[in-house]
Amino acid sequence: MTDTSHAHNDLQALLDAAVDAILIIDHRGVIQALNRAAEQLFGYGAEDCIGNNIRMLMPPEIGAEHDAHMSRYRATGVAHVIGRGREVEGQRRDGSRFPARLSVGQVAGSEPPRFVGFLHDLTQHREVEEDSRRAQARLAQVARYASMGEMAAGIAHELNQPLSAIATYAQACDRMLDGQDPDLPEIHAALQQIASQALRAGEIIRKLRDLVGNPQTERALCDINEVVAQIATLAGTEAGDHGITLKFALASDLAPVSIDRGQVQQVLLNLLRNAIESLAESVGAPRVITLGTRRLQDPEVEVYVRDQGPGVAPEVADRMFDPFYTTKRSGAGLGLAISKTIVRAHRGTLGHRPAAPTGAEFFLRLPTQERNELP
Ligand SMILES: Nc1ncnc2c1ncn2[C@@H]1O[C@H](COP(=O)(O)OP(=O)(O)O)[C@@H](O)[C@H]1O
Ligand SMILES: [Mg+2]
Repeated sequence: MTDTSHAHNDLQALLDAAVDAILIIDHRGVIQALNRAAEQLFGYGAEDCIGNNIRMLMPPEIGAEHDAHMSRYRATGVAHVIGRGREVEGQRRDGSRFPARLSVGQVAGSEPPRFVGFLHDLTQHREVEEDSRRAQARLAQVARYASMGEMAAGIAHELNQPLSAIATYAQACDRMLDGQDPDLPEIHAALQQIASQALRAGEIIRKLRDLVGNPQTERALCDINEVVAQIATLAGTEAGDHGITLKFALASDLAPVSIDRGQVQQVLLNLLRNAIESLAESVGAPRVITLGTRRLQDPEVEVYVRDQGPGVAPEVADRMFDPFYTTKRSGAGLGLAISKTIVRAHRGTLGHRPAAPTGAEFFLRLPTQERNELP
């Protein structure tokens, strides 16, 4: 045996010991050598491959591109894949395809150049990824059921209050009517309580319907400033009744947003109502609510509603977006929860930060849409 054939045998033994597929090609893309792992991966024997173009191991559309890469490399000496790994698709003898990670090196000092490719089969890796994606989806579903369970518990609790109040007042009426000389004004008052508690229960159910409500939305491109300004028409009187002025700080030059106008206004109304309620409760706070817009980096716009009431206590801030969480005696605790689901459905975010020097600032961020790319 000659030295070169020794060297050749050593090299082949080395290649065959590798787990990954290894192929050596010349500057035209013709296969010079391959290892056993490559034979197994592609389902060919070495004799089927050596002397043929490497294209035979690729899906046809990629093969054409590969030729272009090789000739560009020959012309310019610039290789895109060398020294960097990338993901490719291989094609087996039986025509089936598989994902693989390819890294390529140039054989040192070879002229014309030769290249070594290392191919790592990613099929299993992909399966693991797919499994973990499925597991995550299952988990999300469980979480959804869990929060539905929580919500059901919340609804039960929430409805229980007006219902037991109704029962108590009705029993009282019954007792009073049984007596000798029934106190009609008192019976009257109890009946009014019954009516108002029934309305409260109805209101809870109505809001709940909004919360789980119909997910169909009608999106259209809107100027967010116009949507915000319209709030003055919708809620100006409500604010005025409490001696509160609405101030607008609208940024110019905002890209349009693709939104369901009515739903976004519902969110703004919820935020505004909370601000009005917080000012109504606090003495001496400036009776102004600011509605503003501003442009953010991401392409996003932000709308904020700011009051200078008492602000949100930290322990409240942690929970206020939860359904049925309220600090108000007659609150339903659904305003922020509903708002959050609406904003999420718009691929936006709803959040809160303290206002300076006091007060609360709620903001919603919505992705903007360029005029030429309709949703
Ligand atoms: N502008 C605000 N200032 C202070 N606290 C607020 C403000 N907005 C919301 N909150 C807090 O968040 C809670 C939840 O609000 P929300 O979901 O609208 O329900 P509700 O208004 O029925 O209480 C409120 O009870 C209040 O404690
Ligand atoms: Mg509210």
